[in-house]
Amino acid sequence: MRKKIYKILVTGGAGFIGSEFVRQAVKQGHQMVVVDKLTYAGDLARLKSVQGKFVFYKTDIADLQKVMIILKKERPRAIVHFAAESHVDRSILDASEFVYTNIGGTQQLLTASREMGIKRFIHVSTDEVYGEISRGKFKEHFPLNPNSPYSASKASADFLVKAYIHTFGFPAIIVRPSNNYGPWQFPEKFIPVIIYKAIKNQKIPVYAKGLNVREWLHISDCARAVLATLELGQEGEIYNIGSALECKNITLVKMILKILARSQHLITFVKDRPGHDFRYALDSHKIQNNLFWKPHVDFEEGIFQTVQWYQENFTWLERKVKFLENYWKQIYKPTHEGER
Ligand code: NAD
Ligand code: DAU
Repeated sequence: MRKKIYKILVTGGAGFIGSEFVRQAVKQGHQMVVVDKLTYAGDLARLKSVQGKFVFYKTDIADLQKVMIILKKERPRAIVHFAAESHVDRSILDASEFVYTNIGGTQQLLTASREMGIKRFIHVSTDEVYGEISRGKFKEHFPLNPNSPYSASKASADFLVKAYIHTFGFPAIIVRPSNNYGPWQFPEKFIPVIIYKAIKNQKIPVYAKGLNVREWLHISDCARAVLATLELGQEGEIYNIGSALECKNITLVKMILKILARSQHLITFVKDRPGHDFRYALDSHKIQNNLFWKPHVDFEEGIFQTVQWYQENFTWLERKVKFLENYWKQIYKPTHEGER
């Protein structure tokens, strides 16, 4: 069967996962339009390898007029919506941008997409909308029980998408991936934090006792799963995307320290994240059985290659860390510095 080629508009395509999706979709031959506000988290360097193979608009998804102009000009068949404020700790310090983009931006994008008759809309949600789970795994029909301002904003967006499906027959699909890792992740997130600090022989901040559990999924597997939902997914459905690879934070730190031949003395237990979800775990049978997707990247190999990537791209990593240090200093000076 010949593969269908689409014009796809990707929001947040200059972000960590969105850019991997764009890189993969370009390889598949799709025509790509990227819409990204280029917040502190966005960076077109992530799309260097596919330069010239996508159209770019530096635009805020919450700006309905501008989004309408882009949609009228580009006429994409599908929209894949990654754009979001994505960092839990930041949402705890100030939730306003999370409400603005994750809820307001999604609503404006839905309005524009419906008006323009978009044929398929993939909404990228997160496993965090389910809340935490001590035993077992979240299935797609489980109730939403978000705990952080970030996950509350993402859950609100899910409800908006579900309401558009129910009310207007809007052709949307919701995907809920678990924690992603890989190249190009912004070093506010745990894995690049560990790698940077370990390389520099600095203290590694581990919240509480490091016993919290996350399900780690390589970005290449995540982006491939999103492509599968775009091509084969059923309108109105929700698909979990997980690797089933669960790891305690402390185990992850030790793994990376071993790869980099650094001492465990760098591990520093710090004050816990307020309301810190203990464990997430997804049941991903639905996407595996119905869309024939499964993760390919072995966790140990994936982490090893990720560490290597940050070593090889240390200038990028350090530039982002320095930017972040200044950013925190300007915005949240006394408390955050004190805590670390
Ligand atoms: P990211 O923070 O790396 O990228 C987000 C991108 O969105 C950035 O390029 C940013 O510039 C852009 N953006 C933010 N606000 C915008 C706005 N108003 N208009 C246009 N663009 C805007 O995030 P990520 O880690 O790549 O996550 C992508 C999506 O996947 C998010 O929706 C996130 O909630 C979800 N998700 C992430 C993970 C993870 O582990 N990283 C796991 C599950 C789900
Ligand atoms: O589960 C999916 C979610 O994963 C996504 O929806 C979010 O966008 C993404 O940021 C991520 O959220 P987490 O809060 O799980 O990721 P983070 O990398 O911030 O933290 C991972 C774990 O490590 C978490 O238990 C908190 C802990 N941690 C984090 C940092 C930054 C530390 O112990 N120390 C740290 O310095």
